[in-house]
Amino acid sequence: MLASKLPQVGTTIFTRMSQLAAECGAINLSQGFPDFDGPDALREAVGRHVMAGANQYAPMTGLPALREQLALKIQQLYGRSVSANDEVTVTPGATQAIFCAVQAVVRNGDEVIVFDPCYDSYEPAVQLAGGVCVHQALRLPDFSIDWPALEAAIGPRTRMIIINSPHNPSGALLSADDLERLWKLIRDRDIYLLSDEVYEHLVFDGRRHESVLRHADLYQRAFVIGSFGKTYHVTGWKTGYVIAPPALTAELRKVHQFVSFTAVTPLQWALAEFMAAHPEHLAELPGFYQAKRDLFCSLLAESRFAFTPTPGTYFQLADYSAIRPDLDDVAMAEWLTREHGVAVIPVSVFYQNPPADLRLVRFCFAKRDETLREAAARLAAI
Ligand SMILES: Cc1ncc(COP(=O)(O)O)c(C=O)c1O
Repeated sequence: MLASKLPQVGTTIFTRMSQLAAECGAINLSQGFPDFDGPDALREAVGRHVMAGANQYAPMTGLPALREQLALKIQQLYGRSVSANDEVTVTPGATQAIFCAVQAVVRNGDEVIVFDPCYDSYEPAVQLAGGVCVHQALRLPDFSIDWPALEAAIGPRTRMIIINSPHNPSGALLSADDLERLWKLIRDRDIYLLSDEVYEHLVFDGRRHESVLRHADLYQRAFVIGSFGKTYHVTGWKTGYVIAPPALTAELRKVHQFVSFTAVTPLQWALAEFMAAHPEHLAELPGFYQAKRDLFCSLLAESRFAFTPTPGTYFQLADYSAIRPDLDDVAMAEWLTREHGVAVIPVSVFYQNPPADLRLVRFCFAKRDETLREAAARLAAI
């Protein structure tokens, strides 16, 4: 029998819930992807570039035109001037970017601090690098960092800290003050930062995204991860990027070169063209998703779910204690899917040790308004 290198990994909850939703004919608010398409001009550009012959390997680091668009965006949004050649790398998805950044830095026996609830790809990447994840629970109810606990968790073997803002699944945002506190904690230690910012444009109520790219010192230790899939409503394109200072980028590229070598060529041409022609897309994105959040939340207010409107991402958490306190959240997610036709994600699956009384499920509101109306009507009827 082959001894598994990832014995704890099975089929993910996202796959299971999407399968169950399909089996039951339920509305799928579980997995995080839109049920609408990306912009016409973007999709049309892919077909055009395929027909025009952009079908061979792109440069390993990404198409220069796309890297330049990313550098321009970072300058405009976060006031940081990064070199398109030495600090920007295009990858086949943020997941692959995270994997490569972890492999580039984490050595056998190193510890990586992650904050629970946390995205499910971090731990397997760390394990495959020979490292160990040290899980720090975020403080409920606002999913903020427990600073004394974090300080206590940092030790001589800590090699990396992974942060994620806006945060999946809670939508919580890190503040400028949080980044400064983090810097003070790692300043005198040999610790790197992986900042998963795939929801960077999904920040609501006029707040601004506090990217690590705004913090000159932290950035010198950081891999900042982005995803075109989230930003342009094309999750199936699996195209992402990493921004990191030149020395870290050089190490990241050594891994990326042999994991995938490059990202898909015509998609990169289309994205570069669309970013140049439609800068308004980024400016409109927070409003677009805030309207969906507000629609969903105003309808969900008619139900017995308890919630605070999310400050970021396209996820809304809700407490179901008033409906089925007897069910744990995995059973609740199945019950909602089978009995009420709405598939959701239980929050406990994002934890190593979930709090015993956790009664939270996650709804994805990256859906057409009619999908949200129908789902909310079903939820309000429970
Ligand atoms: C927090 C977080 N990081 C990374 C990813 C992966 O992004 P991609 O589809 O570009 O690999 C996701 C996707 O759901 C996510 O929620």
